[in-house]
Amino acid sequence: MTDAYDVLVIGSGAAGLTVALKVLVARPDARVAVLSKMDLAAGSTMHAQGGIAAAIGGADSPSFHVADTLEAGAGLCDREMVEFVVEHGKAAIDWLIDQGVAFDREGGLYHLTREGGHSQRRVVHAADATGRAIETSLVDKVRASGAVLMEDHIAVDLIRERLDGDRRGRCLGAYVLDRARGRVDLLPARTTVLATGGASRVYLYSSNPDGSTGDGIAMGWRAGCRVANMEFSQFHPTCLYHPGAKSFLITEAVRGEGGRLLRPDGTRFMEDYDKRGELAPRDIVARAIDDVMKRLGCDCVYLDISHKPADFIIAHFPTIHATCLSLGIDITRQPIPVVPAAHFTCGGVLADREGHTDVENLYAVGEVACTGLHGANRLASNSLLECVVVGTAAGAAIARRLDEVPPPPAIPVWDESWVTDSDEEVVVAHNWDEIRRFMWDYVGIVRSTKRLERAKHRVKLLLGEIGEYYGSFRVTDDLLELRNIITVADLIVRSALARKESRGLHFTLDFPEADVIAPPQNTILVPKSFSTHRAPSAVEAAP
Ligand code: FAD
Ligand code: SIN
Repeated sequence: MTDAYDVLVIGSGAAGLTVALKVLVARPDARVAVLSKMDLAAGSTMHAQGGIAAAIGGADSPSFHVADTLEAGAGLCDREMVEFVVEHGKAAIDWLIDQGVAFDREGGLYHLTREGGHSQRRVVHAADATGRAIETSLVDKVRASGAVLMEDHIAVDLIRERLDGDRRGRCLGAYVLDRARGRVDLLPARTTVLATGGASRVYLYSSNPDGSTGDGIAMGWRAGCRVANMEFSQFHPTCLYHPGAKSFLITEAVRGEGGRLLRPDGTRFMEDYDKRGELAPRDIVARAIDDVMKRLGCDCVYLDISHKPADFIIAHFPTIHATCLSLGIDITRQPIPVVPAAHFTCGGVLADREGHTDVENLYAVGEVACTGLHGANRLASNSLLECVVVGTAAGAAIARRLDEVPPPPAIPVWDESWVTDSDEEVVVAHNWDEIRRFMWDYVGIVRSTKRLERAKHRVKLLLGEIGEYYGSFRVTDDLLELRNIITVADLIVRSALARKESRGLHFTLDFPEADVIAPPQNTILVPKSFSTHRAPSAVEAAP
């Protein structure tokens, strides 16, 4: 058996890299491995545009940032968690600057942009490519850190100890497919961190890169972790609508800097839906656009910033300007065609402020986790903040406990003796397309019980089919992702059916209002193999 790692970090976005770097600062002797299923910079972090929220402006204060986060979260944020993250905002920015991130400055101060739901300018950014600035700096640091870096390695499943026939037990590492060799390796670890990002690619249209297939949520669920609030899929209102553009976001900062949403006839509509207009929270803007498109039968709406000076637009939005121009759209002169697309997974593996999950020695950090920060709707630019703040806390907690955690016992290697190579790869592609299509059609921005029931029926059939396929054939990366997206689809549909009200990102025609009588409740799904070393922290809904 390979020697156990002290820490196995699955995922190399802002969350995973923060954890790895923080562990190594506290414990330079630790054996840390970082996995990415593609190259290190392949996750959503690299694509983040608008920035990272922190109450550092002269007129701002953490209490305003807390209030805006709670307001966006529609009654479901955990106030203590929100306060914890917001209060560590300045330290997170300072740490990123120390890692080499060059945020934009103006007149000696950091330039702060504005996004929907924020009452103040508080979004620190590097033009419109903040994620690239963060990810490339952290990747440079981790390459020099002594961590073992494994690209093109896709985690298949977590390994959970079985004790006396019971499924209770610690996490002992993971089985991992080495894509280049086509071989599943055993990676034992004292401590394992899920930092695998979100699941927005479960939908047909998404702002996310291909790898956002909810692998960590599915693996955590299979390993016995509770999963919460999966009905709250965030749809970003403005993704570029163009046949030549795949998943390209037009940052909310365009609206923050004065961009206006227009019907195809050039008239504005946002103020008909919310007095905050274009800067209403994301759920409201996405639903308004969906409504306009349905009413008018149009394929997109338009986002126009061309009334601003061209040099201002090019200085603030160089990436968007260049990308649109390459597709024949000059944003300094023309409105941009936009549509909503699945963007962020507010739910995930239940975790606390240090990333602890229900399974001992297993942590979840970043978009894979549900910590209570986002509630029923994430406030823009709070995700990168969560990755760094919780990543820092998790790194410190892991380093602190390292000597207490015994090495894993002997673990069986991956056994492929009963499987063969698939002779029907096409089935994987068909199932994948079918899931993403019905999730978009039936579990999208506007839901109904009937549509959700339709989705449930399809999920059930596909869970059986894909389970059988998985049990018969040698694993490939496509098959692993398919198995994970059907699991995530199941969790989303079950959670959406369980919520008998509309709240935040979950809007259903059958219960169009929020329940004002019962106190707001999280939707917590409990796996069959659930047992915890922690006390349950919230109300539980049976699966
Ligand atoms: P990611 O950055 O997604 O990284 C996931 C990592 O996990 C990757 O390395 C991936 O290869 C790896 N991985 C996944 N599955 C496996 C597996 N099975 N085995 C091995 N490795 C695996 N948020 C903000 O706060 N501000 C913004 O301005 C902003 N803009 C955004 C713009 C876009 C276009 C998108 C898509 C998102 C944006 N977000 C923004 C959201 C934010 O970028 C993400 O929520 C955040 O970056 C997630 O970071 P993460 O580290 O959790 O995951
Ligand atoms: C954006 O730049 O509009 C995305 C910001 C976010 O998702 O937080």
